Amino acid sequence: MKIVVTGGAGFIGGNFIHYYLKAHPEDRVICIDKLTYAGNLSTLAPVMNNDKFRFVKADICDRETVFALFEEEQPDAVINFAAESHVDRSIEDPEVFLRTNILGTATLMDACRVFGNVRYHQVSTDEVYGDLPLNRPDLLFTENTPIHTSSPYSSSKAGADLLVQAYNRTYGLPVTISRCSNNYGPYHFPEKLIPLMIVNCLYDKPLPVYGEGLNVRDWLYVEDHCKAIDLIVRKGRIGEVYNVGGHNEMRNIDIVKLIIRELGKSEDLITYVTDRKGHDLRYAIDPTKIHEELGWLPETCFEEGIKKTIKWYLENRSWWEEIINGEYQHYYEKMYNNR
Ligand code: NAD
Ligand code: TYD
Repeated sequence: MKIVVTGGAGFIGGNFIHYYLKAHPEDRVICIDKLTYAGNLSTLAPVMNNDKFRFVKADICDRETVFALFEEEQPDAVINFAAESHVDRSIEDPEVFLRTNILGTATLMDACRVFGNVRYHQVSTDEVYGDLPLNRPDLLFTENTPIHTSSPYSSSKAGADLLVQAYNRTYGLPVTISRCSNNYGPYHFPEKLIPLMIVNCLYDKPLPVYGEGLNVRDWLYVEDHCKAIDLIVRKGRIGEVYNVGGHNEMRNIDIVKLIIRELGKSEDLITYVTDRKGHDLRYAIDPTKIHEELGWLPETCFEEGIKKTIKWYLENRSWWEEIINGEYQHYYEKMYNNR
């Protein structure tokens, strides 16, 4: 099989490429990535010389380039990870989110239609369901939960999901969608909660907790997400949505305290800062469908996954130091100074 993976220089796409080339050494993988601030070629360095892998620097919204690549490569499947992915950035400047996340998705699906009704998988998020109350632990997101978004980011992802379903119904494009909860693991860009707290702890910098730190996220080790996507692409039912999550709900403040403990630092580093606008209270996935239909279950529990993740950041300082010493400094100052 020949697959196109978009956004492969990012966190989940990069992990997916590493996983996929090991799991399916007979397949060929073509990665399209624009290398935005979130894309990092050093994430792909270990596979750059693999003759089953090709990297193409391109924008998924660039119709001409995408179509030319499809014509040349004639892929069997496309897995779309490419996106603007950070909620806080979407609150500052929504436009690029609409462009990449919605128009980029349409461009890729148009290429799929033109070059042989190519199998298309959309990597979506549980954030399209909005949030759940903190005091109703019985409520979980199912695939039938209505779309009800809070941020420009989640709205752009929801817009893309609706388009994917429309392309299936209108053109018969063979699509699937996965909606996963928060991922963590290696190669996670340091603007996100877990890597930000690890990196700040290592520099003894304040740990900025939004609001009171009581918001709940449902964390999944990134490799478990990659395995779920692989299963859906191979065995999922066309036209279906699959929720992906491992029943691992945690409050932000508890994650931060755990990282502090693991790194032997002091809780005095915790600094409560102004809350995020429109901050979703709680995400929680019901993964019954993917478990019952495809046999998927998470393999890495949080206790093990967070230890592996912290170890990876300790052993791969050059990967993240290069990021935080660059443009990221301006981002950090803008978002966190005097917050
Ligand atoms: P990321 O921000 O780490 O990586 C995104 C990648 O996409 C980067 O390499 C970037 O260069 C590339 N990209 C951005 N715009 C592009 C464009 N116009 N053309 C080509 N490439 C472009 O994101 P991530 O955390 O790896 O998320 C990957 C996907 O998974 C996203 O679609 C996101 O919505 C979804 N998702 C993420 C999470 C999570 O916890 N991170 C959870 C569920 C779903
Ligand atoms: P994030 O990693 O941005 O993922 P998402 O917003 O997509 O769930 O944030 C996870 C949670 O952590 C979210 O409730 C916001 C909170 N948070 C902080 O408290 N401080 C921070 O510096 C960041 C980046 C996030």
